[in-house]
Amino acid sequence: MKIAVTAASGRLGTALLRELAVARPAADLVAVARDPARVAAPGAGIEVRRGDYGSVVDMTAALAGVDTVVMISAPVAGGSDRVPLHRNVIAAARAAGARSIIYTSVIGNDREAGTLFAATQQVNRQAETDCRDSGLGWVVLRNGLYLELDLNHIIAADTAGGVYTNPGGTGRAPYITIDEIAFATAQVALDAPRHHGRTWNITSECLTQAELVALANEVFGLHVRYEQITDEQCIEKFSRLMAHRGEAVARMLTGCFQCIRAGAFDVPSHYAEAAGRPARPVRAMMQDVRRKLAAAGA
Ligand SMILES: NC(=O)c1ccc[n+]([C@@H]2O[C@H](COP(=O)([O-])OP(=O)(O)OC[C@H]3O[C@@H](n4cnc5c(N)ncnc54)[C@H](OP(=O)(O)O)[C@@H]3O)[C@@H](O)[C@H]2O)c1
Repeated sequence: MKIAVTAASGRLGTALLRELAVARPAADLVAVARDPARVAAPGAGIEVRRGDYGSVVDMTAALAGVDTVVMISAPVAGGSDRVPLHRNVIAAARAAGARSIIYTSVIGNDREAGTLFAATQQVNRQAETDCRDSGLGWVVLRNGLYLELDLNHIIAADTAGGVYTNPGGTGRAPYITIDEIAFATAQVALDAPRHHGRTWNITSECLTQAELVALANEVFGLHVRYEQITDEQCIEKFSRLMAHRGEAVARMLTGCFQCIRAGAFDVPSHYAEAAGRPARPVRAMMQDVRRKLAAAGA
C-alpha cells in the first residue's frame, strides 16, 4: 500500500516524507517532484518519480501503484493558474487507481471574502470541491499559518528598529510549524480511509499579533513591539522587502493580515482528531525553531 507525496521537493513535502519514513518502510513511499534532483528524501530506498502538476499524463505515470496520494497545494507565486494544476493531479490519481487523496489546503471561515487573499483562497476551496467530486476517498487538511515565516520577520525586526508591523490588529490566528503540520498529515496518510470525508483544521492555539511577538521576545530574547499599520502601508512594505516576488505577492500577503484582522483565521483546531495527539503549544514550537536555527548556525 504505497503513499505518494507530490511537490516532494518543497518544505512541507520534505518534512512529510521524513515523518512517513518513521512509520513505513521506504519501499511503501513515493516522492513525486517536477525535478527529482531537488528531492531530499530521508534515507535510502524512497523512490523518486518525476511528476509536474502541468501534465496529467506524467502525473498518472508517477502515481502508478499508489494507494494514497498527498496532494500538496501548488505555490501561489508560481505564475500559473492553479485550478487546472490541482485538477490534473486529481485526474491522475483517479486514472492511476488510487483510493485516497489528501489535499493540503488553508484555514478560513469565509470572512476572507473582500480581502486581498480571497482569490487565493478561492483556488484552495475549488481544489477541495474538486477532491470531493472526484469519486476518490478524500480528506482536506486546512493548514494554519506557517510559524517559521512570521518568526523570520519578527526576528529581523529586532535589529531593524524593534517594531514589527502589519495590519492584523487584534485579530487572532493559529500559527504552526511545518514539522507539526507534517506530523499530522503523516498520521492521516497512514490511515487515510479512517479520515475519508473529513475536513480538519491543522492548527494549534490562536494568538493575536501582539501575543505572538511577546512569545517570540521571550523565546528568542528579542525586544520587539507590535504596531498595526494600514493595508496600503503593508503592501508598500512587502513590495519593498520582497521586491523579487512582485506586487501581486505583496498584495496577497497583505490579504492574509486582512484575514487575521477580520477573524477569518480564528478557527477551531482539529489537530488531535487528525494526528491522534494535541498540537504542540506555540511556545514549544518556537523553541523547536530556535533549536533548528541554532543547529544551522543561524
Ligand atoms: N499555511 C501557510 O502559511 C502556507 C505558507 C506558504 C505556502 N503555503 C502553501 O503550502 C504549499 C506547500 O508549502 P511549502 O512550504 O512546501 O512550499 P515550498 O517549499 O515553496 O514548495 C513548493 C513545492 O511546489 C513544487 N511545485 C511548484 N510548481 C510545481 C508544478 N507545476 N508541479 C509540481 N510541483 C510543483 C515545488 O517544486 P520545485 O522544487 O521544483 O520548485 C516545491 O516542491 C505551498 O505550495 C502553498 O500553496 C502555505
